[in-house]
Amino acid sequence: MPTYDEALELMHAWTPSESLRRHMYAVEAAMRAYARRFGEDEETWAIAGLIHDFDWEKHPETHPNKGADHLEALGWPAEIVRAVRAHAPERSGVEPETLMERALYASDEITGLITAAVYVRPDRSIHTLTVKSLKKKFKDKSFARGVDREMVRRGAELLGVELWEHVGFVLEAMQADAERLGLAGAASPGD
Ligand SMILES: [Fe+2]
Ligand SMILES: [Fe+2]
Repeated sequence: MPTYDEALELMHAWTPSESLRRHMYAVEAAMRAYARRFGEDEETWAIAGLIHDFDWEKHPETHPNKGADHLEALGWPAEIVRAVRAHAPERSGVEPETLMERALYASDEITGLITAAVYVRPDRSIHTLTVKSLKKKFKDKSFARGVDREMVRRGAELLGVELWEHVGFVLEAMQADAERLGLAGAASPGD
């Protein structure tokens, strides 16, 4: 089992882009919150969230398979390697099955919608963003077109959490980590 710092170092080595790093931090924040909620191992879930897209910049065409193969070669635990594959079943052929895999699948796209919703706010702060506002953005198909709404719905269903409760839960997890995600407001350090 890699330590959190080893996982972070590997992710940084493969992902120079700050925006993609922040996406992975956001999924990590959601995974930590869900691990606590379900009484699961927070470190393992955090690492799964932190690493899930680490091969995207190096190997976009084969994502997430080359990355998962690499983790396997490094001797990473099968549960994390499988979760990395299962976050993109359409590309890997591996469906999300375990609770950790379902939480990862469910958290991935919604963090993208939340981040996009913060970027269009005048204050650029996640702290003033509400579920009500996210509902509107979710229904507006022209907003953040890259976010697959069906995947968000399916993820919540797989996780057994009502869709808007899920959205609110991930929003809160991201709010608690706003500085690191660069979503704390217009004057946030690191922007
Ligand atoms: Fe991905
Ligand atoms: Fe992702």
